[in-house]
Amino acid sequence: MQKIRAAIAGIGNCASSLIQGLEYYREHSAEDVRGLMHPRIGAWGCGNIEVVAAFDIDRRKVGRPLEEAIFAKPNCTRVFQKAMPVSGVTVQMGPILDGVADHMRDYPEDQAFRPADLEPVDVARTLKDSGAEILICYLPVGSEQAVSHYAEACLTAGVALLNCVPVFIASKPEWARRFAEAGLPLIGDDIKSQVGATIVHRALARLFADRGVALDRTYQLNTGGNTDFLNMLALDRLESKRMSKTESVQSQLDARLDTRDIHIGPSDYVAWQEDNKVCFIRMEGRGFGEAPIEIELRLSVQDSPNSAGVVIDAVRCAKLALERKLAGPVESACAYYMKSPPRQMRDSDAREAVERFIAGGAVDKTAEGSAEGSADGKPAPWPGRAVAGE
Ligand SMILES: NC(=O)c1ccc[n+]([C@@H]2O[C@H](COP(=O)([O-])OP(=O)(O)OC[C@H]3O[C@@H](n4cnc5c(N)ncnc54)[C@H](O)[C@@H]3O)[C@@H](O)[C@H]2O)c1
Repeated sequence: MQKIRAAIAGIGNCASSLIQGLEYYREHSAEDVRGLMHPRIGAWGCGNIEVVAAFDIDRRKVGRPLEEAIFAKPNCTRVFQKAMPVSGVTVQMGPILDGVADHMRDYPEDQAFRPADLEPVDVARTLKDSGAEILICYLPVGSEQAVSHYAEACLTAGVALLNCVPVFIASKPEWARRFAEAGLPLIGDDIKSQVGATIVHRALARLFADRGVALDRTYQLNTGGNTDFLNMLALDRLESKRMSKTESVQSQLDARLDTRDIHIGPSDYVAWQEDNKVCFIRMEGRGFGEAPIEIELRLSVQDSPNSAGVVIDAVRCAKLALERKLAGPVESACAYYMKSPPRQMRDSDAREAVERFIAGGAVDKTAEGSAEGSADGKPAPWPGRAVAGE
């Protein structure tokens, strides 16, 4: 069976969960696939995804075999698959750019990034030499320059991009157009976890609207103790994350809430929580005859595995798009798997759209449809779309 050749930028907790999961599900029978949304997409199970290149900047990860680097500090996610095969992949030094927040150095070694003092590799050349087809971007929130650098490298090397970070690439018309013109699929931005704060909050927002309850005010407060939460203590890195999470919920409402009445974001770093994320949602509304309705909800999850299965789906959708010679944002996959897609949909609609896309049936007029119209088999240029929330 043909492999899907993926590269990863950022070997942090999410990459650790993903790579452990690839091995975990490879070892499980086809019937025992609890935890996955799609045991197979097209011809591919999880076992068909192979990581062929990896980039990081931390001295405890760079230069080490990938199967060891995923367990190196400051990673702190659950180890559910200890035995890992030899990958033959060594973690390469990426360009640091704005990947490391200054305050990281004020925290103990075990909790924070420690950049290696090495020259970065040429990312585009490394991608090309590895034969990677898809790059999964897992850089820290606020790494605007670094994410752009990896996206440029994808364009140079001819590699599709799966952007799990709230730096807007797929949802920016200019990037979308450039990927479309390069004939490359793009899925982003900011991965939407399996059952995480965003999808629960979106579902409740829709429930209020569908049942005729007016939502007056809401918040979503999140705490965690991994490096993602530590990084987000820097308020100047947070803007895109707040926007991504807030718009993801706003997009599900029939009438937008005034900014004063909706507060969503990462709220604090609690070191001892490690990779356990705790989310508190409050919703205040009015039902029949203005009768007040309140919801208080506490959600506790393991943050990194919660997104890994979604990424395994999205990688296989990117591969389907490559096989079908589609280019630019894969709109259904962006809407279903990402918080900030080029076009927001209701999750039930996004699910139907992605199932249609997987089945190869009718798709909406996006990258998915663009290849159909081209006589020479080349994808049509991306028409351009508004950024979510604009
Ligand atoms: N459920 C989830 O965990 C979830 C959901 C949505 C989005 N995300 C996003 O995914 C991203 C990754 O999350 P994580 O928990 O793995 O973070 P993490 O802090 O564990 O990992 C980030 C990794 O990137 C490395 N890095 C920093 N700068 C780099 C550079 N310039 N080049 C290469 N590597 C660099 C760090 O050394 C670290 O290993 C974050 O932006 C996060 O917000 C995660």
